[in-house]
Amino acid sequence: MPFRWNPELQSQDITPESWFRERRRLLQGAAVVGAGVLLGVEPFGEVTAKSEPLSDVRPGVVTLDEAQTPFKDATGYCNFYELGSGKEDPSRHGGKLVTDPWSVLIDGEVARPGSVSLEELLKPHPLEERVYRMRCVEAWSMVIPWVGFPLGDLLKRFEPTPKARYVAFETLHDPKQLPGQSRNVLQWPYREGLRLDEAMHPLTILAVGMYGQRLPNQNGAPLRLVVPWKYGFKGIKSIVRITLTEQQPVTSWNLQAPEEYGFFANVNPEVPHPRWEQSSERRLGEFRRRETLPFNGYAAQVASLYAGMDLARYF
Ligand code: MTE
Repeated sequence: MPFRWNPELQSQDITPESWFRERRRLLQGAAVVGAGVLLGVEPFGEVTAKSEPLSDVRPGVVTLDEAQTPFKDATGYCNFYELGSGKEDPSRHGGKLVTDPWSVLIDGEVARPGSVSLEELLKPHPLEERVYRMRCVEAWSMVIPWVGFPLGDLLKRFEPTPKARYVAFETLHDPKQLPGQSRNVLQWPYREGLRLDEAMHPLTILAVGMYGQRLPNQNGAPLRLVVPWKYGFKGIKSIVRITLTEQQPVTSWNLQAPEEYGFFANVNPEVPHPRWEQSSERRLGEFRRRETLPFNGYAAQVASLYAGMDLARYF
């Protein structure tokens, strides 16, 4: 089983060698992309990822030993409709998004609501690197080394009230920085949501980086959600507001096309999208298709959250 839990790790296990590993990985990534071009795999757009290394990152307590998606693919082939609807648009048009200073409002059913700067928000949260499988609804997949911390740790600090049952997330709404918001592709701002138990699950993280660096704008800088057992659209980018709610929140794709995109969006090879199969996927940078696994391979960790639920109805 390539998936490994390592609850033994302590904060003193912070590894400077991770930088060494990172360099090696990036070099390997570059080699794979080079080979891909020779083999005729589509080269992706210009990548506007400035390199801002993150320090004091400890190895994740949860991680995966699988070949990682080349950095250039993960940062050059993106979905971020506020930056355009083509896969290469976000890497080209992310330059206007100002991510420093940044603050996040945490409100709703919490005892201590408030707006906090990103630095304040990060202070008590040691950063971990966690390599996760990701599966997009459009049938491509990736393996990404995220850097972040468990969302549950943050929520606990704001003291959810007994009424809190869901968590709603919102992306920045500012068409000057996110020009796609001048077009009615979706109802802006982009919104997502989780049930509180999903949000508190230790696999659910808020990411501030990937591949050992701060998140590039196209991947959702400075703060995005990562829920590895769900389709990629749940991974809302550039979050400015987190609201705990009693009722299930409205989510962007569910609002747009409710028969195509459910609230839960758990990866499920047995439930096809109305317009395509969901039983297989193609890793970015590879030709052959792979079988899609229930809950994206994380069933042992999360299937119990949905015990007794009809997953075809609650898709
Ligand atoms: N977040 C915002 N704000 N806007 C978006 O358009 N797209 C979603 C999700 N988060 C999106 C978003 C979709 S459809 C996917 S598949 C993932 O981001 C893609 O993340 P990636 O580009 O980092 O791979």
